Amino acid sequence: MAIAGVGPETEIEQLRATEFARLDACDHVYLDYTGAAMYAESQLAEHVELLRASVFGNPHSVNPTSAAMTELVEQARDAVLRFFRASPDEYEAIFTPNATGALRLVGEAYPFRRGDRFLLTFDNHNSVNGVREFARARGAETTYVPSVAPELRVDEELLPRYLTEVGGDHHNLFAYPAQSNFSGVQHPLDWIDTAQSHGWHVLLDAAAFAPTNRLDLSHRHPDFVALSFYKLFGWPTGVGCLLARREALEQLERPWFSGGTIVAAFVQREWYQSAPGAPRFEDGTLDFLNLPAVEIGLRFLERVGIEQIHAHVQALTGDLLATLCTLRHASGEPAATIYGPCDTSARGGTVAFNFLHKDGRIVDERYVDRVARRHRISLRTGCFCNPGAGEVAFTISRETLVGGEFGAGMSLDDYVAAIGLPSGGAVRASLGVPSNRADLERFAAFAQEFVDLAETPDDLPPRVGC
Ligand SMILES: Cc1ncc(COP(=O)(O)O)c(C=O)c1O
Repeated sequence: MAIAGVGPETEIEQLRATEFARLDACDHVYLDYTGAAMYAESQLAEHVELLRASVFGNPHSVNPTSAAMTELVEQARDAVLRFFRASPDEYEAIFTPNATGALRLVGEAYPFRRGDRFLLTFDNHNSVNGVREFARARGAETTYVPSVAPELRVDEELLPRYLTEVGGDHHNLFAYPAQSNFSGVQHPLDWIDTAQSHGWHVLLDAAAFAPTNRLDLSHRHPDFVALSFYKLFGWPTGVGCLLARREALEQLERPWFSGGTIVAAFVQREWYQSAPGAPRFEDGTLDFLNLPAVEIGLRFLERVGIEQIHAHVQALTGDLLATLCTLRHASGEPAATIYGPCDTSARGGTVAFNFLHKDGRIVDERYVDRVARRHRISLRTGCFCNPGAGEVAFTISRETLVGGEFGAGMSLDDYVAAIGLPSGGAVRASLGVPSNRADLERFAAFAQEFVDLAETPDDLPPRVGC
């Protein structure tokens, strides 16, 4: 499909009709790009054509069909390094099932010892929070750096203190998201250099940042970067990546070996030799037929232009924020509240908010879901697997959480009531390449339904998860 030369914003908008026509054909207003991007039709066509016209075998062998597949796998690896401007002398691209798989690889193999530190921001996806369990099991100490409401940015006075409070010969790991999947806040990439200059390894979660921002690894050199490709270009699912500095990789201690990760292993002698490079971290058979779609997807983003995508999403984010900020009840009271920055500087196209009743109470997010369904709008409600950002947004104290155990037999609704949460979470709308002003107009009409809303119905379904 011809999209060569796509440049200014208006040309990106044309893609809605050429590459993403199914959104309008099916009458969907899709506003969950932080959940998953949309694939362009040309990506699918090119991938399917490749599979139709070729014969591919499992890449773990040397026969002709295997060799053909191996070549495409290595081509995909090179394409990923090129896209992120990562020098192959410095970085390895390790394919994983998703960003979580990349984070787990680091967590389970990071050489934490007693006295080492794992430092992370409150604002993190649970797949980063979970690394603390590996740190704990190995006797390292976990410390969280808080965010500050209402912008939900990290306290920039506090962070340098934490980063400089390190001594001796330790392995210390600092993890943060380049962009919050909750509030859209973009945390400074300068922290990478600062942390490394104090001896920290840096684990950058770029899952929410990379789809609409340039991540240039010739400029910044985080030790580990985690990504999911479906968040960048929708297809394929099931493939992510750990971009890792070779130097940092050498320090990881894999807890096991498996098929695909070794050159040789014996049974009668308990010995094995790890494979060099990325394969040492790629357990079992790669999702090999999908890997060529990674290169195709990256090429699509390159043709559209990541800078153009960034500008397009930023402009629409400004409109979305304006709709929410100006939403008022007849009394003049605000009908919505935003969790995170209200302007477009140092933030991405992910907006967390709640609608408000006239007296300031939060509109139950389950009702928001119900109304959104009626408008054929796909957005997200809950805490988006980022409890730390939610705890700050809803001013939930540590004492509240420590005092309120999730008792046996309790439902999530019982728990929400027991600890006095104002709601079961926030509402999240997020934008991507196919988003356009018509989506935002439909969103604005949907938002109007909450103006002067007195009460929500009492037949809302029970909450099943956060
Ligand atoms: C910032 C961030 N990190 C990590 C993840 C986990 O990604 P995945 O579920 O693809 O492993 C997500 C997914 O929403 C995310 O937004």
